[in-house]
Amino acid sequence: MSLTAASLIPYNTFGLEQNAEQLVVLHDRQQLLEVWQAYSSMPLLVVGEGSNLLFTAPVSSLVIVNRLKGIKVTEVEDAWLLEIAGGENWHQLVCWTLVENMPGLENLALIPGTVGASPIQNIGAYGVELAQFCQQVESFDWRTGQVHQWTAAECEFGYRDSVFKHQAREHLILSVTLRLPKAWQPVLGYGPLAKLGGSATAQQVFEQVCATRQAKLPDPAVLGNAGSFFKNPKVVTAQAQALQLAWPQLPVFAAEPGVSKLAAGWLIDKAGLKGTRVGGAGVHTEQALVLVNHGGATAEDVLRLAGRVRERVEQLFGVRLEPEVRMIGAAGETNLDEALACLS
Ligand code: EPU
Repeated sequence: MSLTAASLIPYNTFGLEQNAEQLVVLHDRQQLLEVWQAYSSMPLLVVGEGSNLLFTAPVSSLVIVNRLKGIKVTEVEDAWLLEIAGGENWHQLVCWTLVENMPGLENLALIPGTVGASPIQNIGAYGVELAQFCQQVESFDWRTGQVHQWTAAECEFGYRDSVFKHQAREHLILSVTLRLPKAWQPVLGYGPLAKLGGSATAQQVFEQVCATRQAKLPDPAVLGNAGSFFKNPKVVTAQAQALQLAWPQLPVFAAEPGVSKLAAGWLIDKAGLKGTRVGGAGVHTEQALVLVNHGGATAEDVLRLAGRVRERVEQLFGVRLEPEVRMIGAAGETNLDEALACLS
């Protein structure tokens, strides 16, 4: 089993040039065992389609690109159980479930990336999160070579968060089992979906979600990006109320008791940052929460732009944004502060 150095351009939707010293594309479980037996002493970085990653330096960890494929369907009385291999494409899965008449995932259409990545950050959009459907996750623990099954509760899903970002970081997601209840109801709470009305079909919701995303969010195949660059920040409700007094238009959402979530895109937009550029990187002009690669951007451009956005928003609103995109430096996962410190 030999590994090769490779460009990471095909494996990051930002389209940034960066190299991996050792990379292997994984097609089956037997191959995984062989790679593990030979290289288990190396730190691991699993990549799906790289739609939530920013490579800030050449990667010296072993990069495994998860391309495990396959879907097994089991019908039970009130639901379909889908066991989907981690390397399947998320949006293709959504389309397939609709063709097969198994609705439920339509609000999550067009989210870039793989099924294996979906539980890691608990993907969510338009009022729906993966956590609502996730029954089980099967992972390969790189430290021990053991396969581990996680119930939904054990996944510790939160807002763009799960156990796979914390103590189970060194796990490769082999498969995800989703439970799609036969008793289906459209989820239409989000503004542009509400107009469809209660009799909307899953196909109609799917089409509206696709149209909404295409209108606001840049297609990574056209303009490199990794979706929302920052999380929507949580603040204590008293702070949200004080901000709303000063900025009555500020969108505020309820989170846990005593905590509110603010729309980071609105804060960045109001700070006048839409269209701001650093080198080849820019704040998207339609959805300010997305940073884009206008062509030839370097990781340094994106980091400096992100630093500027965070600083301006903090100066104006006293709210510190936290990146949602995961940053991968030379020695593994890093963060915006560390990555910026490496530049100066
Ligand atoms: N807004 C602005 N200006 C902007 C962007 C947003 O005023 O430039 C306002 C909008 O008008 C709206 C509010 O901010 O009132 C929220 O914006 P939007 O509905 O576009 O959603 P978001 O909070 O910016 C989140 C997710 C998206 C997901 C959408 C829809 C996060 C970090 N992002 O974005 O997920 O698609 O809701 O549910 O939670 C992702 O995670 O990569 C992602 C794209």
